[in-house]
Amino acid sequence: MRWHRSLLVFLAAAFVAAPADAGWNSLGDFPAPSPTAGGLAFRNEQGVVSVTALGSSVVRVRFVPGQAFGRDHSYAIVNRDLGDAGASVEIGGKESTLATRALRVSIQHAPFRVSIATAAGEVIDADDAEMGTAFAGHRVRVWKELRPEDHVYGLGEKTGRLDKRGWGLGGSAYAMWNTDTYAYDASTDPIYASIPFYMVLRGGRAHGIFLDNTFRSFFDIGKESQQLLSFGAEDGELDYYFIDGPDPKTVIERYTTLTGRMPLPPRWALGYHQSRYSYFPESRLRLLADTFREKRVPADVLWLDIHYLDGYTPLTWNHERFPDPKKLLTELRAEGFRVVTIVDPHPKKERGYAPYESGLANDAFVKSPDGSVYEGNVWPSNAEKNPRPSVFPDFSKPSVRDWWGGLYKEYLDYGVAGIWNDMNEPAVFREPAHTMPPELRHDNEGQPTDHREIHNVYGMLMTRSTFEGLSRLRPQARPFVLTRASFAGGQRYSAIWPGDNVSDWSHLRATIPILAGLGLSGFPFVGSDIGGFAETATAELYTRWLQLGVFYPFMRSHTTLGTPDQEPWSYGASREATNRHAIELRYELLPHVYNEMKAASETGVPAFRALFLEFPQDPATYALDDEILFGRDLLIAPVLREEATERELYLPAGDWYDFWTGAKQAGGRKIKVRVEIETLPIFVRSGGFVFRQGVVQHTGEMAGQPLRVFVYPAAKSQATLYEDEGEGLGYRDGQFLRRRFAQTRTGESVSLEVGPAEGRFRPAARNLELRVRSERPASQVALAGQKLAALAADSPAGATGYRNEAGFMIVTLPDRYDAFQVTLTP
Ligand code: GLC
Repeated sequence: MRWHRSLLVFLAAAFVAAPADAGWNSLGDFPAPSPTAGGLAFRNEQGVVSVTALGSSVVRVRFVPGQAFGRDHSYAIVNRDLGDAGASVEIGGKESTLATRALRVSIQHAPFRVSIATAAGEVIDADDAEMGTAFAGHRVRVWKELRPEDHVYGLGEKTGRLDKRGWGLGGSAYAMWNTDTYAYDASTDPIYASIPFYMVLRGGRAHGIFLDNTFRSFFDIGKESQQLLSFGAEDGELDYYFIDGPDPKTVIERYTTLTGRMPLPPRWALGYHQSRYSYFPESRLRLLADTFREKRVPADVLWLDIHYLDGYTPLTWNHERFPDPKKLLTELRAEGFRVVTIVDPHPKKERGYAPYESGLANDAFVKSPDGSVYEGNVWPSNAEKNPRPSVFPDFSKPSVRDWWGGLYKEYLDYGVAGIWNDMNEPAVFREPAHTMPPELRHDNEGQPTDHREIHNVYGMLMTRSTFEGLSRLRPQARPFVLTRASFAGGQRYSAIWPGDNVSDWSHLRATIPILAGLGLSGFPFVGSDIGGFAETATAELYTRWLQLGVFYPFMRSHTTLGTPDQEPWSYGASREATNRHAIELRYELLPHVYNEMKAASETGVPAFRALFLEFPQDPATYALDDEILFGRDLLIAPVLREEATERELYLPAGDWYDFWTGAKQAGGRKIKVRVEIETLPIFVRSGGFVFRQGVVQHTGEMAGQPLRVFVYPAAKSQATLYEDEGEGLGYRDGQFLRRRFAQTRTGESVSLEVGPAEGRFRPAARNLELRVRSERPASQVALAGQKLAALAADSPAGATGYRNEAGFMIVTLPDRYDAFQVTLTP
């Protein structure tokens, strides 16, 4: 033992450049670089480095040990055109610089160190002077300075705190390796998805780093040393993008310019989803559907988990349990339900089974190094009858993605509305790795490699195959895909849920930092299993979870095999009413939710939003793990503790309005609110516009609903509302409606302006209700200069006029699509 250790010390010393860890070779002396298109190229006997500006605020740094870069290929990045960088280079003897309009990148040649500063010279991101960039065998890593005031966010789907520096700057280390982690907890890492992107917030100023490497990668946020942030991968290039803000939302916009954005989801996918492992047979699913409608609990989507399959075999149907899927799905559709089915990436190895046969014919499956098709056990090996191993499509081969995507045809013909891709880490029942062996071979888009390089993108490439397949099969529809595993850029293809959580209060709380972290890593369409997957939720926990779930972009209850049902009515009559109210709130808010998701699809900025994204200058928001914004204007402080009688929450500076009572609260402080089981504390930011409708039982009932625009006081504010058919791609050709709502207040007078309609979509005839929060009722209300009538409490619904109700002036008129103005005078 002793001998061994001293050998290590000797080796460490022999590797010079003072690496902190045995084996690391820090990049040493480089000769002066040569200019390239948009940057600089360096080369010495250790390796090659390029530093390139992509637009004025994004810089790519690429390093590989050895004499040449490999193929410039990325599964994550879809766009490197971020506009003209206005780049210029200066090559010096000891140092060279690359300047853009916004940044100044200084590169010291010997030893090689990079430092990125604003054009004014303020250093934003700097290599650690001692370690800099290093390699050890195939491993690559870079150490960067971490300052005491830095807060670090993101890394996609990660457990623990929102601020990845953890408690009291204790630091934390994370790995990226997609892993099926049933009943994980706050200390489990990694879990299902890998998004090697983080954001640093320093004194309100933000920048981000994206490491574009699909191998197992590592991020150390102040754990090894409180002064260091390091990241790297076990193989491949150290290929990273520095993305400047300075606003944190701008960092996300730029990151998603590189990696793409969530496509606009179909509106039904923003309704309520009910799932369990598993609803079967058909009569059970029908009963579920009928119960929703009988009990008047709104819902849009029912989910079929693996028991609808024949022996858990992907892309089959168990016709004993579901004799006529097409008839069933058609009839459910008539009741306003869509059905989503699970499809895992492990076709069964069985002669005569079409996906296996056609997969073999298409050379579609992942192989062992000896060229034989790899077999592993997953669900089909647990089937009661005829258990067999599975084979695995190689989604890194474009022709395989096309082939697999086409296999959904039969499901779509039955009327399946969306696809749930699970087990795509990929999970294999083979312990301890619980995945494929590392030496398996993949096509890797024409440059064959082993599983180590494809593992982290396997799930994302599966969702790509699904999304593209659904798009080809139904070119006019918006695909809906849910995945468990993914990688940076996977937001282009699917929504994501963080797998198998537990019915436990700590898990309820944990969903906020996990989902907010995903959101600020480019994935806005997220939601955790409501009620928790493993174990059994108490009535109280389920209700609290459903209440928070109102603001999960993807709102689905789900639970595992063998647990009691987790349905809104499963806990007795009084809880049923409370749970119904939570889901009704979601449906009332659907115009708002849809609007925010549309915005997320355009900017990448998530609707389920960590507070610091809106208040980067407010340190009190930096470590908030237990409240969330939905969009810009709604602050949600869900009740997260058992038997709570009050909830303490933080309101950032400014005025806030209680969503339920309209009461004003001054921000910039913590407040306490009394809570009962019905209570879901929500506050609206001063000047906020909240777009609501009446309660509907499913999204198919929205036509004709009044549009209720709640307007909260501010001297001046505005918002835009986006609407469309909720389905299809007509919106891309102008079938949408976008309007601007603005208010100006002078004293007690309010002037509301509704801007001209953009786009050709017009909703079915309906009323517009402008609900203006005002301390004093108005005595005169005019629409386009014409005085409106005061309405009596018993006026027929929909009569044009105004009335005062509980602190809101409500102006009702048939909705119209010209620009107009409403004035309210006391
Ligand atoms: C996995 C999924 C879970 C699903 C189960 C059966 O555990 O994470 O959601 O219910 O497999 O398909």
